[in-house]
Amino acid sequence: MTTVAMPKPHGDRGMEGMVAKWYASNTAEVMNEYRELAQRISREIAPGSRVLEVAPGPGYFSIELARRGSFAIIGLDISRTFVKIAARKAAEAGVEADFQQGSASNMPFPRDSFDFLLCRAAFKNFAQPVVALQEMCRVLKPGGRGLIIDLRGDASPSEINRHVDRMGLSTFNRIMTKLAFKTMLLKSAYTKEQFQHMLAQTEFSRVEIEEADIGLEITMTK
Ligand SMILES: C[S@@+](CC[C@H](N)C(=O)[O-])C[C@H]1O[C@@H](n2cnc3c(N)ncnc32)[C@H](O)[C@@H]1O
Repeated sequence: MTTVAMPKPHGDRGMEGMVAKWYASNTAEVMNEYRELAQRISREIAPGSRVLEVAPGPGYFSIELARRGSFAIIGLDISRTFVKIAARKAAEAGVEADFQQGSASNMPFPRDSFDFLLCRAAFKNFAQPVVALQEMCRVLKPGGRGLIIDLRGDASPSEINRHVDRMGLSTFNRIMTKLAFKTMLLKSAYTKEQFQHMLAQTEFSRVEIEEADIGLEITMTK
């Protein structure tokens, strides 16, 4: 699991817009990871599935998924800058994915709307994580599945160094990414036990949490 640095958003002006643009170009260096994840998910979900990406940022996963099958894909991100970047990238790629502005803790969708949802490298940024989990449960159809992929809050500094070294980033981005992991991201990331505690406050019928390298994969079935 790779997760590139991104501070919490505070609005759309100035700094946040610059950070969004930097994030979009930095993550472009790890496109293989989005492609592999999209390939895997496209095999796991049925054609025609309604898919929600929560906090898609530049939209790379949604765009890669859209290339691989006929899915109805919506991305919901709090940042207007990211919504614009993602919509432009989808248009350039010639795929259909609908990027909308809104919050993970107050999703503008009716109950039972989606077959599958993904939230990658973003959950630790959410101001109301338990409410976001409850919203994920609400908008999934009965039997629908949610997948959260994020940094593990108890990953060690040496595990982080090894992970970032394998990402194939330019020297500048490697240094910046290690710094961001250690000074910001780890502080907001959750451990498996913290996820278990938060998920106990939702109505998911089944939850599985796997630790992988410096990340966690949380699979939630409604
Ligand atoms: C590190 S980026 C991850 C982007 C993308 N998931 C990826 O894997 O490249 C984190 C994203 O979370 C979004 N975000 C933060 N808080 C949010 C919230 N409450 N609701 C929706 N999106 C949010 C940010 O705007 C940003 O696009």
